[in-house]
Amino acid sequence: MAEKHFKYVILGGGVAAGYAAREFAKHGLIPGELAIISKEAVAPYERPALSKAYLFPQGAARLPGFHVCVGSGGERLLPEWYSEKGIELILSTEIVKADLASRTLTTAAGATITFDILIIATGSTVINLSDFGTPGADANNILYLREIDDADKLVATIQAKKNGKAVIVGGGYIGLELSAVMKINNFDVTMVYPEPWCMPRLFTPDIAAFYEAYYANKGVKIDKGTLVIGFNSDTNGDVTSVKLKDGRVLDADIVIVGVGGRPLTKLFKGQVEEEKGGIKTDAFFQTSVAGVYAVGDVATFPLKLYNETRRVEHVDHARKSAEQAVKAIKASEEGKAIDEYDYLPYFYSRSFDLSWQFYGDNVGETVIFGDNDPASSKPKFGSYWINEGKLLGAFLEGGSLEENKAIAELARLQPAVPDLEQLAKEGLSFASKI
Ligand code: FDA
Ligand code: NAD
Repeated sequence: MAEKHFKYVILGGGVAAGYAAREFAKHGLIPGELAIISKEAVAPYERPALSKAYLFPQGAARLPGFHVCVGSGGERLLPEWYSEKGIELILSTEIVKADLASRTLTTAAGATITFDILIIATGSTVINLSDFGTPGADANNILYLREIDDADKLVATIQAKKNGKAVIVGGGYIGLELSAVMKINNFDVTMVYPEPWCMPRLFTPDIAAFYEAYYANKGVKIDKGTLVIGFNSDTNGDVTSVKLKDGRVLDADIVIVGVGGRPLTKLFKGQVEEEKGGIKTDAFFQTSVAGVYAVGDVATFPLKLYNETRRVEHVDHARKSAEQAVKAIKASEEGKAIDEYDYLPYFYSRSFDLSWQFYGDNVGETVIFGDNDPASSKPKFGSYWINEGKLLGAFLEGGSLEENKAIAELARLQPAVPDLEQLAKEGLSFASKI
């Protein structure tokens, strides 16, 4: 079998890979030095599009429209860009074995690729209901969403089951974004999740109450506080209904599951130090093995601002960690030093006409401010998290560019908050005066 060698290999062809490639190119690359290996068939793209505009009934986003780095306002890296730069894109190629000691990767077809420096950017995979042993979970039309092939399958099923019934399992990011887009596709939509309110890992009950009511006004039904315990299917193996723990059965032509992600670290088990479910790195994204870096969803890195290590499964960090790793690699080649990664957590989501941003840390007491009436024509509200007298986190729905910048600044500066009632009264104006 063929063997190839590259100075730099990026394993994974998602968001982090694309931003890493751009950073390498900025520093100057010799053709043939860098390869990106991806099991996907397409060049790196902005994954967030898959749960939003990719699924619109009209004017849907399609490649090449959303290749990286358009998501952060940069120039689009089309497949030609990689060839112009002499970057080898090794697509539709899954790596099934990694041996860090001999610096060798083995593809599913048995070819080997060796490297001097490796950037692990394998991202996450979905948690499957079959992993929990949910009976009937392998029926047809029970779908998940991670990669573009999954999105294409979803588009085909939306067309095949026009105006049908969709059950969305999970009340997190995928649950909320997919319920909205299925409603926009004119499906009869029911969300099912076990928690008392949606997106509990970020939302307070107050924030969640707004989204739940807004979704209900749009016609999305919500069954919360209950679990899916099984599925029924017809003689073709197509799903027909969803069985809930509370005894009810919901008819379904299509089921979309979003019950969390799992970082893809298994190729490296026992070869690198791990922490908090991810591959442990330093502030330059180097792992416990010299010359091996991990970025994006798989990295557990020092979050300097809070003096602890974290793993973050969001696109802004995927972009920035990739850039930091490449800067560090290039600096070390030149015997130079760069600043430690100093990340301010930033998450966002969009659905229907809504759009929120969150910066910082969601710990401590909270205050809510602004117009959170779900029936308002243009709701704009927010929440602050205050811990030990300091403002640590800020959430804003419906904010302008300037307002979102202001809350980001607030979360970075962590001003003292002597009076919570006063803070709630001031709301967004507290951010603009900082
Ligand atoms: P990413 O998943 O992007 O890429 C990993 C790549 O590695 C994939 O191409 C995969 O095929 C490849 N790979 C894995 N194992 C391999 C192997 N063994 N061999 C070869 N290739 C392999 N975040 C946010 O902040 N706002 C948002 O709106 C959204 N929206 C969103 C929608 C959807 C549908 C998803 C699935 C995720 C989001 N996210 C998001 C999260 C965000 O997209 C995610 O955090 C980044 O894509 C992570 O970037 P990575 O490069 O780490 O992984
Ligand atoms: P998530 O962690 O946001 O939500 C998982 C949800 O699954 C939980 O909130 C819970 O409601 C539900 N759940 C857990 N166990 C369940 C069970 N047994 N039965 C029913 N429901 C159950 O994960 P996700 O929404 O699947 O997203 C997957 C990945 O994609 C994550 O990394 C996420 O960050 C990323 N993503 C991010 C965005 C964004 O940032 N806007 C958008 C889409 C996806």
